[in-house]
Amino acid sequence: MKTYLVTGGAGFIGSNYIHYLFKKYDDSIKIINVDKLTYAGNLENLKSIENRENYKFIRADICDHEVINKIFELNEIQRVVHFAAESHVDRSIKNPEIFIQTNVLGTLVMLEAAKAAWKLSDGTFKADHKFLHVSTDEVYGSLEENAAYFYETTPYAPHNPYSASKASSNMLVKSYMDTYQFPANITNCSNNYGPYQFPEKLIPLIINNALQGKQLPVYGDGENIRDWLYVRDHCKAIDMVQEKGDLFEIYNIGGHNEKQNIQIIHIIIKILREIMQDQDPRKKNIDENLITYVTDRKSHDRRYAISPDKIKAEVGWYPETIFEQGIKKTIVWFLEHEDWLKNVTSGEYQRYYEEMYSAR
Ligand code: NAD
Ligand code: TYD
Repeated sequence: MKTYLVTGGAGFIGSNYIHYLFKKYDDSIKIINVDKLTYAGNLENLKSIENRENYKFIRADICDHEVINKIFELNEIQRVVHFAAESHVDRSIKNPEIFIQTNVLGTLVMLEAAKAAWKLSDGTFKADHKFLHVSTDEVYGSLEENAAYFYETTPYAPHNPYSASKASSNMLVKSYMDTYQFPANITNCSNNYGPYQFPEKLIPLIINNALQGKQLPVYGDGENIRDWLYVRDHCKAIDMVQEKGDLFEIYNIGGHNEKQNIQIIHIIIKILREIMQDQDPRKKNIDENLITYVTDRKSHDRRYAISPDKIKAEVGWYPETIFEQGIKKTIVWFLEHEDWLKNVTSGEYQRYYEEMYSAR
């Protein structure tokens, strides 16, 4: 029975990944989820699997090397899938330090612990033990409107503390692969959307604000482009890279689905109006009048677009979910989980929203 150590498994992609693994492998694997439960971590995301005998949650900081080493000592971990990170660009602009701590130093702790646990006396590593570092297309910086996609060979050019911290963590993982032949992969994925995404990110924030009849904040001219991928497709890609990819390789993951932010907002308004009940009093307030242009993000990357050619050719992965279906499924999920949305937007979130948007 393979044991997975998933870090950041209570967050958006991590919790989707744990659900994906259990659906696929059921009782033939064991998962240990290590998460600090920051504002972004939410055990409600994992309610339906929390009592499984082959699942264990440990609340811990990945920067705590004693705890992390102990987890490796007490368990025969065969797969590490490392999601844990501070993940929001706007927060990184306000408070960069925690991004360096968690994303860079935390990754170092994870690498050191796995290296120590997996190393054999001759300097090689235990067979079939693998570390996957989950990263982002933002490490490559920003593209002009007509420039070619990001490829695995594109030089890193991060523009904000979040992407700089992720680029640094990628380089650390690469250095472990090169220096020690440490058995790892790196994946760089485009913007994800789907169930359990925290409403500080564009899509869930717009859905939440629209449902509350609040303004829909658009940074700058709204024409910045992101390449959106349904989260389940990302989870599938990660699993396929670990099981079918070549060790030491870096794989880019993307949806070939470039959209301007303003287009995304129009799509969300349209779908909400289509699927909400006419009797719902909120429906009549949801229209284009809510769209509000606000001061741009500092150093706002203009366009991300990433080529998944390599992962398609070498691993056989491709983006399966058509955006129109994925976004509809996502909006339906949020409408069916309004309690979840209410719980994560009470308390601290209100303060965050005030701080980020009130004087914008
Ligand atoms: P998220 O912010 O929703 O979740 C992050 C999780 O990590 C939370 O559960 C949080 O509690 C946990 N965490 C934070 N600091 C920790 C620490 N010091 N120790 C232990 N746990 C800690 O993030 P996400 O959107 O799910 O992103 C997951 C990973 O995927 C990140 O590494 C991110 O860079 C990467 N990524 C995200 C996207 C995207 O569109 N969201 C795209 C590409 C790559
Ligand atoms: P975001 O979801 O924060 O992801 P990232 O910055 O990592 O790509 O933002 C996606 C895009 O939406 C980005 O161009 C910034 C923009 N945006 C807004 O226009 N308004 C908002 O309130 C937010 C959160 C983002």
